[in-house]
Amino acid sequence: MDDLTPVRLRDGTEAFVVPLLPANREALREEYEHLSAETRFDRFLAPVPTLTDTMLDHLVCEVDGVDHVALVLLVITPDGTERPVGLARIIRYRNDPSVADVAVTVVDDWHGRGVATALLEVLMQHRPRGVSRIVTLVNASNRASLAMLRRLGEIEVSKPESGVQVVTVTLPDGADSASAGPGRVDAGALALEDSPLRRHDPPSPAPLPLAGDPDRPGASRR
Ligand SMILES: CC(C)(COP(=O)(O)OP(=O)(O)OC[C@H]1O[C@@H](n2cnc3c(N)ncnc32)[C@H](O)[C@@H]1OP(=O)(O)O)[C@@H](O)C(=O)NCCC(=O)NCCS
Repeated sequence: MDDLTPVRLRDGTEAFVVPLLPANREALREEYEHLSAETRFDRFLAPVPTLTDTMLDHLVCEVDGVDHVALVLLVITPDGTERPVGLARIIRYRNDPSVADVAVTVVDDWHGRGVATALLEVLMQHRPRGVSRIVTLVNASNRASLAMLRRLGEIEVSKPESGVQVVTVTLPDGADSASAGPGRVDAGALALEDSPLRRHDPPSPAPLPLAGDPDRPGASRR
C-alpha cells in the first residue's frame, strides 16, 4: 500500500492510515497498557493485561504485508502531533488461504467515531490476495464488533458458546477467489484459536469453542 492513506471518520475528523512498522513495537506495548480492561478482553477474548515480547513478535515482527497486513489509524492532535488511535490487522489462515481472521482495536476515548469503519475499509483493500471470507471469534456481548463486521459483507453468526460467537463474513468480491469454492467455510478446520490474532501468553481461562477436534493442527501450540 501507499505509505499514507488519508481518510475521513464518520464524525468528520481527518485522519491517516499507515502500515504498522517494526519501529512501532514499543509504542504498541505502551498504548496497549492504556486500554481499558474491557477493550483488552474484547480484543483477545481473555484477560491479557500486557503484551509480552512473544506476543509483540507475533503482532509486529510477523507482519509481512502479504499474508499478514496491519494498519494504524493516526489523528492529528490539537498540538499538531500524530496520535495512533486504532490498529487493524488481517491474517490469512494457514489451513485455508481463502479465509482470514481480522482484529481491530480502537483506544477507548475514540470509540464510536468511525475509526474501525475507516480502518477496515482500507484494510479490506489491502487484504491478502485471494481472501474472500473472514472468520473470526467475537464476544457475544460485543455489539460494536458485530456491527463493524456486518459492514464488510454478508455475515453469518453462530450461536454463542461460552459467550463467544464465530462470525463468518463473505466479502463482496469473494466469488472471484479461485480457492474459495461455493461451499461453507469449515470453521472447525481453521484452528481459529491458534490464530496469532488471539494467541497470548497467559493460560486461557477456558477452552474456546470449535475445539471439537483436539488433534487439529496447531491445537497444542497455544
Ligand atoms: C469494536 C471496536 C474496534 C469498534 O471500533 P469503533 O471505532 O468504535 O467503531 P466504529 O465507530 O467504526 O463503529 C462501527 C460500528 O459499530 C457500532 N458501534 C460502535 N460502538 C458501539 C456500541 N458501543 N454499541 C453498539 N454499536 C456500536 C457503530 O454504530 C458502527 O455500526 P454502523 O456502521 O452500523 O453504524 C472498538 O469498540 C474496540 O476497540 N473494541 C475493543 C476491541 C474489540 O472488540 N475488537 C474487535 C474484536 S478483535
